[in-house]
Amino acid sequence: MQTPILIETIEKMMTPGKGVLAIDESNGTADKKRLAPIGVNGTPENRRRFRELFLDMDGNETFLSGVILYDETLKQSNSDEKPFVDILADKDIVIGIKVDEGAKDSDEFPGEKITAGIDGLDERLAGYYELGARFAKWRAVITIDTDSGLPTDGAIRKNAEILARYAELCHKNNIVPMIEPEVLLQGSHKMDIAEQVTGRTLTIVFEELDRRGVDAKYVILKTSMVVPGDASGELMESEKVGATTVRMLNNSIPQNIGGVVFLSGGQTSEQATENLDAIADEMQVQGAPWMMTFSFSRAIEMPVLEAWAGKDENVAEAQEIYVDILKRDAWAQRGML
Ligand code: G3H
Repeated sequence: MQTPILIETIEKMMTPGKGVLAIDESNGTADKKRLAPIGVNGTPENRRRFRELFLDMDGNETFLSGVILYDETLKQSNSDEKPFVDILADKDIVIGIKVDEGAKDSDEFPGEKITAGIDGLDERLAGYYELGARFAKWRAVITIDTDSGLPTDGAIRKNAEILARYAELCHKNNIVPMIEPEVLLQGSHKMDIAEQVTGRTLTIVFEELDRRGVDAKYVILKTSMVVPGDASGELMESEKVGATTVRMLNNSIPQNIGGVVFLSGGQTSEQATENLDAIADEMQVQGAPWMMTFSFSRAIEMPVLEAWAGKDENVAEAQEIYVDILKRDAWAQRGML
């Protein structure tokens, strides 16, 4: 493990006023959740056009410090046959890669999911480093269902053990691990439960990282904001989201963490931006030794995809919307909205 490489990657990714675009949907998710809703067929060429819209746009480097790609995209090119990795390298945008193979239903923990993909990961990471990737993302999924007593500590612990093993392998390959134990916002739970579960999950994840000797200084945490479940009937208030999220993180993560990035998790684009801004404000109020920024997928992509609708003549208008969202997220990262 060469720490100067990891430090350089983290410093670039956590540049103030910039954030990370998560455009790393697996082919299945890209086809069903991104292209089908806008009436576009899920083909390798259409997925390439979707990614070109976001990656090959003049000026996106003003707001983006990094992007997370999927394997297929890492090897694709723009319409002029310039590889996306070269386009990103020219803009000094750090390249990340999703390396997990999805959250699978668990036999051991009914109703819960354990993420797959550790087999052969060491070799895959070495290959991705050669292709230019400097960080990697692994997503675990934590479901809240208070009626069924979920999540169980067992499922959280199992996912945490795997996250720690993955982080260890990333470090071995000079790749910064972006660990993502996503606590889903789907459910009828109130915000206090979301705070408890997210805090408990992060505590267990960092216990497992510690047990494996993974230094949090060279790790980026990708976390959910603390928000009420989407079926809870509780109003989502930005100020409360900001205060609760910062308190939960200060209670649960190591002070020397490399950085914290937020997923949007199904919030609207506006909600995610406003909540990010409130978190930045609250970091000043409560004090926070860690740096944070956005790493949204849906909250950036959805309005842009709707405007694009797969048509070349809509690219300019869609990219205007894209820049506007990025600009607002960059302001929100500094609490300047
Ligand atoms: O793994 C999920 C993505 O990295 C973040 O996606 O912002 O739509 O939750 P999201």
